[in-house]
Amino acid sequence: MEIVREKKVMRAIVEEAKRSGLVVGLVPTMGYFHQGHLELMRRAAADCDVVVVSLFVNPTQFVPGEDFEEYPRDLERDCALARGAGVDYVFNPDVREMYPGGDRTHVEVEGLSDVMCGAARPGHFRGVATVVAKLFNIVPAQRAYFGQKDGQQLAVLRRMALDLDFDIEITGVPTVREEGGLAMSSRNAYLTDEQASRARCLSSALVRASDLVESGERRAEAVARAVEEEVAASPGVDLEYVAICDKIFLQPLEELHGTVMVAVAARVGKARLIDNVIIEIEQGDAAD
Ligand code: PAJ
Repeated sequence: MEIVREKKVMRAIVEEAKRSGLVVGLVPTMGYFHQGHLELMRRAAADCDVVVVSLFVNPTQFVPGEDFEEYPRDLERDCALARGAGVDYVFNPDVREMYPGGDRTHVEVEGLSDVMCGAARPGHFRGVATVVAKLFNIVPAQRAYFGQKDGQQLAVLRRMALDLDFDIEITGVPTVREEGGLAMSSRNAYLTDEQASRARCLSSALVRASDLVESGERRAEAVARAVEEEVAASPGVDLEYVAICDKIFLQPLEELHGTVMVAVAARVGKARLIDNVIIEIEQGDAAD
């Protein structure tokens, strides 16, 4: 496995691989790997001939006052884990290499970027969409892998790729969880054991939401109320929002139908945690 720090070198490697008829997969990350990241890499390694993981803590997606400086970093450990997951190249540029002229050009995915997490973190998804557009240009892979755990991010990036004609197939990978259900996240490193155990209420609230829908509930308000109740029962977990929407346009639903995303964000100590569940409601599945 090779570490590449320059954009020019990275692009040349990918173009050469493609000329030789190989399929290249890209896994964009900000590092501090856990099993969620590794699952994306393993999936890419299973599907593709060459796997590139980008590891770049992107400053432009952190809103002022957020944890850019203290975001956990451990390049050596990350490289060892990536190698074990079948990665061929780790693209690890510094900020000057990525943004040599600053960042005056932005990608804004209207309507999907300013709701849910975007409302609490204005400019966050603009930073994400812009850096991923840059990565798609620097690493012109045929495939890219993102986690369903960041469901809004996945929706924003799918829409960006569609609207800007990126010739790349995006795969969403299911959320990898800790034993108690907590969605894995680099930011879980901020939690004490006690906080981590309280934060499990987020995933259990989503299970409750799925169960309710499974048993026939179709009113979004009733599902949202059940989620709120479950989280409220866990002290120290401050729910920021519960959103019940379609997974493509992120439009809020009143009556559940089709493919529904139930998403939550909450503050636990100094961590801001997110999670979601996708519920498929088959057509003709009438509520009791
Ligand atoms: P990061 O938070 O490092 O996540 C990198 C990728 O891993 C994302 O696609 C994310 O959805 C996925 N991921 C994180 N936790 C996961 C889990 N528990 N199960 C499955 N997948 C999980 O997301 C980013 O970085 C950045 O915003 C990025 C897209 C790299 C742009 O800077």
